[in-house]
Amino acid sequence: MNILIIGAGNMGTTYARSLLASHFATPDEMALLIRSEASRDRLPEIPNANVHRRPAAFVGQADIVIVSVKPQDFPVLAPVIRPYLHPEQIIISIMAGVSLPTLRESLDVPKLVRAMPNLPSQIGMGMTVFSCSPDLDRKELFIIQNLLNTTGKALYVDNEKLIDSATAVSGSGPAYVYYFMNAMIKAGVELGFTPAQAELLVNQTFMGSVHLQNRNNLSCEDLMRRVASRGGTTEAAFRVFDEKDLEPGIMSGLHSAYRRSLELGK
Ligand SMILES: NC(=O)c1ccc[n+]([C@@H]2O[C@H](COP(=O)([O-])OP(=O)(O)OC[C@H]3O[C@@H](n4cnc5c(N)ncnc54)[C@H](OP(=O)(O)O)[C@@H]3O)[C@@H](O)[C@H]2O)c1
Repeated sequence: MNILIIGAGNMGTTYARSLLASHFATPDEMALLIRSEASRDRLPEIPNANVHRRPAAFVGQADIVIVSVKPQDFPVLAPVIRPYLHPEQIIISIMAGVSLPTLRESLDVPKLVRAMPNLPSQIGMGMTVFSCSPDLDRKELFIIQNLLNTTGKALYVDNEKLIDSATAVSGSGPAYVYYFMNAMIKAGVELGFTPAQAELLVNQTFMGSVHLQNRNNLSCEDLMRRVASRGGTTEAAFRVFDEKDLEPGIMSGLHSAYRRSLELGK
């Protein structure tokens, strides 16, 4: 299966490496469309003859095209690739906020997928939520799910609006986790640890907590109750979290990210 990746930045290189590592495609089946010459060396695994700086007939030879440029670069890209696209190709866009109708209007091809991955895709632990135009058949949908699964887990949603919700939850999500970790590391340092020690404590706490929750099927609230005994230390921390409206604050942060995703899509 021939796959063209447009844009060899963080995400473009992530997809190229994941597809090769999982044997979804061989290096000969992959092509790259890059903008700056400096990007040429980012993926030495792909033959130099398959790395292009200008769109040409090779664009039409791909079965799947992954568009991984920034949303603001898409209006420049779309008119130059459009003449080479044909209706049998599947176009996957991972651009935040670019809707399926916008893709349809800009590219004038019917088989479109809008996906929202996140940063841990780089290590095969990503979460991708995707939706597609009605023109993809069942078999094509399976192929896309398999492709996206090479970077972690992929969830199909019928309603495209949920892609904006996913942007707010799992797309931006890693940054919220790092925000919380960072605050815990800072407090750990205030409480006497070196920064390296505090980071070790916090990293291992996050890792262990997530794995525990995954394995024993208990809700977060159940697990919170297991740690927080009445009148104990965790309860003392929770009391302050409640006084500072931490939970509603986090929730309204996610709602604000959702609204921003909608705005960017306009
Ligand atoms: N990073 C994330 O965590 C994340 C998560 C979800 C979705 N996304 C989406 O993924 C997309 C890519 O993000 P990123 O973090 O990978 O950005 P990035 O590192 O800036 O990569 C974008 C790449 O696109 C290239 N490019 C721009 N215009 C081009 C054109 N006309 N032809 C060929 N290549 C072109 C750029 O080339 P130059 O080398 O010339 O700049 C750059 O290498 C964005 O739309 C973003 O919304 C990212």
